[in-house]
Amino acid sequence: MDAPYQAAPDIHVLPTNLPLPGAGVVLPVNAYVLTAEEPVLIDTGIGIDGDQFLDAVGSIVDLQALRWIWLTHDDADHTGSIQRVMDAAPNARLVTNAFSALRMATWWPVPFDRVHAIRPGDRLSVGDRTLRAVPPPLFDNPLSIGLLDEATGSFFSVDSFGALLPEAVQDAADVPHETLAGGMLAWSLADSPWAHLVDRPRFDQVLDGVRRLQPSRILSSHLPAANGTSIEHFLEVLASVPDAEPAVAPSHEEFGHMLAAMAAAQGQPDLVGAE
Ligand SMILES: [Fe+2]
Ligand SMILES: [Fe+2]
Repeated sequence: MDAPYQAAPDIHVLPTNLPLPGAGVVLPVNAYVLTAEEPVLIDTGIGIDGDQFLDAVGSIVDLQALRWIWLTHDDADHTGSIQRVMDAAPNARLVTNAFSALRMATWWPVPFDRVHAIRPGDRLSVGDRTLRAVPPPLFDNPLSIGLLDEATGSFFSVDSFGALLPEAVQDAADVPHETLAGGMLAWSLADSPWAHLVDRPRFDQVLDGVRRLQPSRILSSHLPAANGTSIEHFLEVLASVPDAEPAVAPSHEEFGHMLAAMAAAQGQPDLVGAE
């Protein structure tokens, strides 16, 4: 993972920037710590660097004092260190969709007595503020559940508003507008291919729902922290998704080129070799 950074006085970002081999872009994968009176960890990173992730969380908040782990959904890039964090933070409760908890029990022993099941519209008091469960406008997992910090307007938007970017940065405003819009569109098309099937007026209503939240900042799982007035630009990009050219997965040959690019970047011999 990359070095944590602070996006707001009460928000720490725990980022990993995954290079997409041969494409010259990275995909940010963020977990967050919200330093509310009752501290909240939002998602648990990718699994491959679990020690580092746990150290990073522990450097921001005392693991004994961590009260809530809000799991936005049970995809691998969000659940990487879930079991380790639950073990290391015995006073934390797991806030997630009930079906996420049940499905995760197929691969780790989820302590159901520590699960706080949540669904859209629910509110959770974390001492000095209330968090509202909000469904993200685009998603790659139907169990996805974002959150709005009602005290500050910070909107943790799950996979929505993610972007493929030329390089790792710590503020979405550091990316030129066109580049950001293109990267956000590319990610949205790949992550939510069902968007081509939507009824446009209904999708517009969904986007209006995000507008009505009046988020002060967007904290996507796949975008550098975005402060300020970028929400209208972001909603414009999402509104363009249903009519854009659908994403196409790499062919086997293209996958081979990606592996060769990855090997070259790592200074290793070609990973594919003879088939
Ligand atoms: Fe996802
Ligand atoms: Fe994700």
